[in-house]
Amino acid sequence: MLKKGLLGILIIILLFVFFVFIKFELNKVKKFNVQKFDLQDVESIADVELGKRIYEVRAGCIDCHGEKLDGKMVMDNGAIGTIYGSNISPYNLKSWTDEEVVRAIRYGVHKSGRSLNFMPSFDFEELSKGDILSVVKYLRSQPEVASESHQNSFGPIARLMSSLGKMPIMFPAKEMDLKKGFSEKPLEEASVAFGKYLANTCIGCHGKNLMGGPIPGGDPSWPEAGDLRFGSNPEWTQERFTELMKTGISPITKKELRVPMPSWLLIQYNATETEALWLYLSSLNSK
Ligand code: HEC
Ligand code: HEC
Repeated sequence: MLKKGLLGILIIILLFVFFVFIKFELNKVKKFNVQKFDLQDVESIADVELGKRIYEVRAGCIDCHGEKLDGKMVMDNGAIGTIYGSNISPYNLKSWTDEEVVRAIRYGVHKSGRSLNFMPSFDFEELSKGDILSVVKYLRSQPEVASESHQNSFGPIARLMSSLGKMPIMFPAKEMDLKKGFSEKPLEEASVAFGKYLANTCIGCHGKNLMGGPIPGGDPSWPEAGDLRFGSNPEWTQERFTELMKTGISPITKKELRVPMPSWLLIQYNATETEALWLYLSSLNSK
């Protein structure tokens, strides 16, 4: 009797492991169709310097793709995997059209049609077409680094969590509306609208409504992301926020903000960007 019960449990476990394995492998090769678009309307406004700023600061691409664009380690962890950003210097992107590179950034789809893995395209969903093409122009303006992209591999926890729908970054193309077009960009000025535009890159960790909490798919050792709805927290003033943006130190706890909060990027924000962020965050409240 007992033996039969154990056998039953064993079979269920094996079926489950098999399900996780198959689901993951199917998602890896699944092809994604993205809405058709062309870049003619933004060709004349694309700007290498703006692209560099987005790459290095606003979108933090540099964190995973590196200063020389040849790819950096994102994670090396038995349970999750060994993951590097790809080499996106002209050496590897020569055979990609501008449309294909824009599609990879905005929709998380590889030239081949598969979803990229661990590339956080949903953080860039609200970037305008002109901004993304500017990044592409910047990538193309940089020297070639002749090395192949790292072959990423994924561990059991990443496979399990992604098969259960708990690790969106594994297959970003699955998470997005691939028929949705590009967002409009507000003027670059100290305004709520520009602050909201910039704050789109905070959502990945601070959550859709910026209320903070545990970071989805994050390392268990990471602290929770803070609540950025400053309109309902009188402790936060523009001075305090500006100080934090300049130093990476919390003016409230007097401590450096911990990893993975990207303070090294935020301290590079200029006065207009910082003020715009403040105007937007202080317009949010918990009600
Ligand atoms: C959290 C780390 C991370 C960030 C931030 C990130 N990427 Fe990626 N990116 C990756 C990884 C990992 C891959 C490889 C995915 C794969 O091959 O499945 C990738 C792939 C790509 C590709 C496809 C190239 C190829 O050969 O597969 C492009 C283009 C790209 N990223 C551009 C960008 C740009 C531009 C930004 C900023 C707007 C950015 N990435 C931000 C991790 C990141
Ligand atoms: C990769 C994840 C990540 C991203 C992206 C990110 N943050 Fe954070 N942030 C955190 C974490 C984690 C903390 C908590 C750090 C700590 O407690 O030491 C934090 C804390 C903060 C705090 C302090 C909050 C408090 O109550 O003390 C501010 C302000 C902040 N982030 C602003 C931003 C802004 C603005 C952006 C976007 C431009 C941003 N963060 C993007 C992870 C992130």
